[in-house]
Amino acid sequence: MPEIDTATLRAVDEKLVVRYSTRLAKFGDDPRTLGWDKRESQQARFSLAADSFDFQGRSILDVGCGLADFREFLEQRGIMPASYSGCDINADLLARCRALRPRDAFYQANLLVEDVPGAPCDVVVLFGVVNFRFSEFSNEDFARGMIRRAFEHCREAVVIDMLTAENDASYPKEDFVYYYDPAEMLKFALSITPHVSLRHDYRSIPQREMTLVLRRQPWA
Ligand SMILES: C[S@@+](CC[C@H](N)C(=O)[O-])C[C@H]1O[C@@H](n2cnc3c(N)ncnc32)[C@H](O)[C@@H]1O
Repeated sequence: MPEIDTATLRAVDEKLVVRYSTRLAKFGDDPRTLGWDKRESQQARFSLAADSFDFQGRSILDVGCGLADFREFLEQRGIMPASYSGCDINADLLARCRALRPRDAFYQANLLVEDVPGAPCDVVVLFGVVNFRFSEFSNEDFARGMIRRAFEHCREAVVIDMLTAENDASYPKEDFVYYYDPAEMLKFALSITPHVSLRHDYRSIPQREMTLVLRRQPWA
């Protein structure tokens, strides 16, 4: 698999940091800061993940944690992880996370090139982290690299959502996001572990998405 040049990755990170910091200044503690349309869609995404993996009592690493809304969601659901830590490339978002959730651990890191302290964790989650379309390198290389790295950081499972190329005809395609071929992503996930589930059966939120769960051991 081709490696992404670190200098190029850092330059892209800078662009992404500006994008989300600008949105944070505009929207504050709101899902729109993270590029989501509304809380309900973000929660539907988290809900699908919580239905696909039992987070109770697990140590969780949330990669691209944004405002640590997944942590808040679990708490509201009464799901108590053994520990929660978040990592992100954006220092402004992380400062907000630390202020909101002083008992959790937050690290500034790009998972593709930096190890996250405290890893491995039981489960690594990534929500919306591979959606942005890059012109500087291949999205396929980026997403596959992130999944590989996430799997290295987990003891049990990786849960990741992506936009699907089997898109919803009623929602106009956007040119700043990347749509992944579900069959190709499933094939790729199966090259890492045989214990994979692909959920591609839930309603659009507002675009059609899919969620992959890669486990080290069979689910049952
Ligand atoms: C669409 S937002 C989603 C935030 C959060 N996961 C949620 O669902 O509310 C994507 C987040 O991923 C972060 N991010 C992007 N690339 C990353 C990388 N390589 N490593 C860590 N975080 C990254 C961004 O800074 C941003 O906070």
